[in-house]
Amino acid sequence: AFRAAIFDLDGVLVDSARLHFVAWKQIADELGIVFSEHDNEALKGVDRMGSLDHILALGGLRLDVAAREELAARKNGYYLDALATMTRADVLPGALSLLSRARTAGLLLGIASASRNATMVLERAGLSGAVDFVADAGKIARSKPAPDIFLACASALGASPVDCVGFEDAAAGVSAIKAAGMVAVGIGASDILAEADLVFETTAQVDLDRVLRLSS
Ligand code: G6P
Ligand code: MG
Repeated sequence: AFRAAIFDLDGVLVDSARLHFVAWKQIADELGIVFSEHDNEALKGVDRMGSLDHILALGGLRLDVAAREELAARKNGYYLDALATMTRADVLPGALSLLSRARTAGLLLGIASASRNATMVLERAGLSGAVDFVADAGKIARSKPAPDIFLACASALGASPVDCVGFEDAAAGVSAIKAAGMVAVGIGASDILAEADLVFETTAQVDLDRVLRLSS
C-alpha cells in the first residue's frame, strides 16, 4: 500500500493560476509585451524566473540578470497583493475531501509546489493543517521536470519513492513524479498528461480507490 500522497498545489488543490496570470499580465503590459491567457498556459508549473524568461521571449526582449531579478521581484509583489484576497473559496472543488480521504486511508500528505509562496498560499486557503509536510521550493536545486522536489517530500515524510503517489496538473510535474519513481496521477487533459499512470479531468473527479489500487 502507498505510504504517502504528494500533491502539487497550484491547479491541483488551489485555484491560483488566475492570480499568477494577472500579476504576469501587469508586468507584460508594463513592458509592452502582448501576453494572453492562452500564453499563460505554458507557465503552469514553471518557476518564477523561468516564467519571466518565457514572457521576455514572447516579446523578443533580452535583459541582463539584474533587470530580470527586479522584474521577477516586482511580479511577486503584485502576486502577493492578489494573494491577500485569497480565501477558502479558492480551494478547488473536491480538494479538501481528497486530502481527508487520503489521510483516512492512512497516507502521509506532502506538498511539492514550485512556488516559493506555497506556505502562504496554504495558509490563505485554510489548508495548512491538512498536510504533514510542505517542501521549500527555494531549497530545491533543480525544478520540475527534475524529480528533486518530489524526492525531498518523500524523504521528509520517511517514505520510499515507490510507496508514494504524486498528483500534478502540469506535464513537467507528471514527468517529475515519474522521474522520482512514483505513481503519477494527472489532473487535466489526458493528451497533455499522457505520461501519467491515471488521469482525471478535475480534482473533484479523482477516484481515490482507483488510485490506491495502483500501489505495487
Ligand atoms: C507554480 C505555478 C507557477 C508559478 C510557480 C512559482 O508552479 O504553477 O505558475 O510560476 O509556482 O511560483 P512563485 O510563487 O514562486 O512565484
Ligand atoms: Mg500546478
